[in-house]
Amino acid sequence: MKRTVFDRFIVATFCALLASSIFAADTNSPREHLSLDANWKFHLGDDWPGALRLDKAGASGGPASEKFSDIAWRTLDLPHDWAIELPFDKNADTSHGFKPVGPGYPKNSVGWYRRTFELPAADDGKRIWLTFDGAFRDVTVWVNGWLVQRHEGGYYPFREDITDIVHFGGKNSIAVKVDATRFEGWFYEGAGIYRHVWLDKTAPVAIAPDGIFVYSKFKNNVPEGSATLYAETRLINNGGPAARLVVTNEFFDPAGNIVASGSSEMTFTQDNPFPKEYVSEDEKYVTSPELWSPESPKLYTLVTTVEVDGKIVDRKETEFGIRTVGFDPTNGFLLNGKHYELYGTCNHQDMAGVGAALPDALQSFRVAKLKEFGCNAIRTSHNPPTPELLDACDRLGMIIMDESRLLGSDQENLRKWEDQIRRDRDHACVGIWSVANEEFSVQSTPQGGNVARTMQNFVKQLDPTRPVTYAAPVGDTFDGINGVIEVRGWNYHVGRGMDDYHAKHPNQPNVGTEQASTVSTRGIYENDKVRGYVSAYDVNAPSWASTTEKWWSYFADRPWLSGGFVWTGFDYRGEPTPYAWPCINSHFGILDVCGFPKDNFYYYQSWWTTNTVLHLLPHWNWPGKEGQEIRVDALSNCEEVELFLNGQSLGKQPMKRNSKLSWKVKYAPGTLSAKGFNGGKLAAETKVETTGAAAAVQLKPDRATINADGEDVSVFTVSVTDAQGRVVPVAGNKIRFELNGAGKILGVGNGDPSCHEPDTFVAQPPVKSVPVSGWRWKLADVPAKGALAPEYAPDLDDSTWNVIKPKTDGDTGDQVLSEGQTAIFRAHVNLTEADLANPGVQVRFGGIDDHGWIFVNNRRVGESADWSASPAFDIKKTLRAGDNVIAVGVSNGSGSGGLNSDVNVELVGQLAASAWSRSVFNGLAQIMVQSTREPGEIRLTASTEGLSPATASVTAQSCTPRPALP
Ligand code: GAL
Repeated sequence: MKRTVFDRFIVATFCALLASSIFAADTNSPREHLSLDANWKFHLGDDWPGALRLDKAGASGGPASEKFSDIAWRTLDLPHDWAIELPFDKNADTSHGFKPVGPGYPKNSVGWYRRTFELPAADDGKRIWLTFDGAFRDVTVWVNGWLVQRHEGGYYPFREDITDIVHFGGKNSIAVKVDATRFEGWFYEGAGIYRHVWLDKTAPVAIAPDGIFVYSKFKNNVPEGSATLYAETRLINNGGPAARLVVTNEFFDPAGNIVASGSSEMTFTQDNPFPKEYVSEDEKYVTSPELWSPESPKLYTLVTTVEVDGKIVDRKETEFGIRTVGFDPTNGFLLNGKHYELYGTCNHQDMAGVGAALPDALQSFRVAKLKEFGCNAIRTSHNPPTPELLDACDRLGMIIMDESRLLGSDQENLRKWEDQIRRDRDHACVGIWSVANEEFSVQSTPQGGNVARTMQNFVKQLDPTRPVTYAAPVGDTFDGINGVIEVRGWNYHVGRGMDDYHAKHPNQPNVGTEQASTVSTRGIYENDKVRGYVSAYDVNAPSWASTTEKWWSYFADRPWLSGGFVWTGFDYRGEPTPYAWPCINSHFGILDVCGFPKDNFYYYQSWWTTNTVLHLLPHWNWPGKEGQEIRVDALSNCEEVELFLNGQSLGKQPMKRNSKLSWKVKYAPGTLSAKGFNGGKLAAETKVETTGAAAAVQLKPDRATINADGEDVSVFTVSVTDAQGRVVPVAGNKIRFELNGAGKILGVGNGDPSCHEPDTFVAQPPVKSVPVSGWRWKLADVPAKGALAPEYAPDLDDSTWNVIKPKTDGDTGDQVLSEGQTAIFRAHVNLTEADLANPGVQVRFGGIDDHGWIFVNNRRVGESADWSASPAFDIKKTLRAGDNVIAVGVSNGSGSGGLNSDVNVELVGQLAASAWSRSVFNGLAQIMVQSTREPGEIRLTASTEGLSPATASVTAQSCTPRPALP
């Protein structure tokens, strides 16, 4: 039977891969999964250290308060990483990439985010959930002034049911304080809300967050015969009465045909009431299933429908794959019952231009880049991944080693481990869990072993299908974690003790969790300590590491090792090795931080893919080196390779499996070329040519059409070429960019590990302050709850009132009130029509001690209940050209009090467009362009002095964006 709803799904994924909840519109299910990414206000700096109030509920101050004015804050969309926006600082932490954030940089280490959202009155009765996929690092969340979450840890999701404190039929505010003061890793980690935020609406009886678990099993873990499908539905009940509950599971194959279905029913009564949590289980069979693998990533879909008393209360689709994974001590990793060599890479989550805040399109971009050289597995070192990376890996075909951040069996760590497993276990791509990485101080102790065993057993309770490993940086030792872990992980130590270990522990499977750490800079062929570059010949590796050829040729001969994970697929920020400043990012990547291939890319492509590969290095622009010997390498999987310089053969050499070839060539400009032969027949040809001088800029988008959903991204390659269109491999021109049309520039990069140019050009709205002086005051009754007092009236004569002494440094002259006194303060401010034409106008107070009600021209604009805050209030609507009266009723509690007369009206101006630029590095740079929600053409121009400019366009096509709150 074919379901039309599924046909729609297939078509719609073309338009918006993101719109995972498009089914919702077709059903009566009250569930809505809404993006909250758009239109946040952001302020960098901990200007409200006293905002968190622990003494009274719903009373937090500063930006946490509903009435706070954030009009002078910057507007941005998530995901966002403010660390990427900061300039490099030589004194900042090396391993985090010299960004001035974290320890020693208090001014840059706390950021505030705010946004509002409306809930219709009709939602009253639904449950409202707020979910953060992750933020770096410690987060405090308030909703409508109520503290709702304090979450620690930069890589785990967190959520809260906020139903009790939202306003149905009104406006709600979310305030988030993100504190990135503490590091969690030894690599660039970013700062801010760098993953998505969601608002979910559900019925009181609903599928729990991450409450679906679907998996398949075959007899003996070999996919022969039919697969058994298991579906578990965890329900939460927030106020459901005694009821008849029906949970229906429908399983659809990759083409949208329903292949199995069934319902389970349960009747609850007064004596047997509907519990707070209820788990329904289902088991079905499917014959001849289409198996998931990186080469053929076939996805099934489970649609779960929940009915209470005949009414649909929830419905959810979950994609999953039918496949088996396992490890065998002799045959290594098994996918679908057969040895499957893991061509893996470890990766951190940051990228050029965007830092840790990757829009979903860039997750797919990165997975596709890795696949180009044969990579079929990613280790999410050293933390739980962003969920959309897993979506991309499900769809594009990539196995995931899903790693926790820390080893620990304390409640908190196990709770995080559980959240990670429940969130990720439905993903076809997740093939193995990793309890931790390199826990040097405890790994060989009995306690280390105990903790790893507890984490491993925990996996087995939550996920009966996947093995568990630990990334161990030790050789032939079975103490501690190695002795208890299911799959022995190997970080480095190639050759040293591996065979001995295997002989001593023949029943334990193995995997190369982290290998290589080969360092190379794209397009550089000589180490250069001053500039912080290392040669791209496969010759450099730190003491613990090995060259590309060394580790891979060892592993390739030992299937029991299962293959391994290269440190790393992409360069990442931080850990500049072997040189520090001016170098600010790592060189371990097979690809640079933009995704441009280094030469090692072709080594892996030769031995990890079935493509015919032939690549020569270095480039052939060496003026001044005429007659000198230059090492030329051929990276190829051809049986023989013959090298030529300007048509003259320099000899043919046979290629040994998993190796490469080298020649010494006396340099002469011209053409270096090679022919690859298989079975004596020409199989491949390539050449590198000496180019002419830089003549033109070129621009090439990776995708000519993107979705006008405000999220999709086209990644442009910028190159500097000679007159014949050949990339000049030594060019370093600084390129200026201009964008027109329905898009925005997200970031720029060039892969230069020592480049200190900005990746983003962030504009702040200009703010002009108009001081409000001449404050007068008198003791008076201040009506409760901000009601009007006669003394607030604009036309009142206050000339006989007390005058506030002008404030001088250290003066406490404003503290005119003693304990329990109340007073009214007044001042005049003259504003012009031009002042009022600014997009935002607010009044900012130096401080109101203790409680104040603020009126402008007799209209109440706000209230302040935090004496330590510098509150600001949006007053644009209450102002007029000419004289305006600001009046504040102040009630002083304990100690002395009053109004700090440092008061300003702030005129928040128009945001100016930023001028973006980036130098090419060895001929290449990258610019990422994001759509808005407007369809149309996006035109990008790239230009530089003396070269002909380039213009390229992408089309933003209209599309159903994912459901979102504006
Ligand atoms: C490993 C570590 C990685 C990275 C790498 C550099 O020991 O697990 O996170 O630091 O070294 O070679």
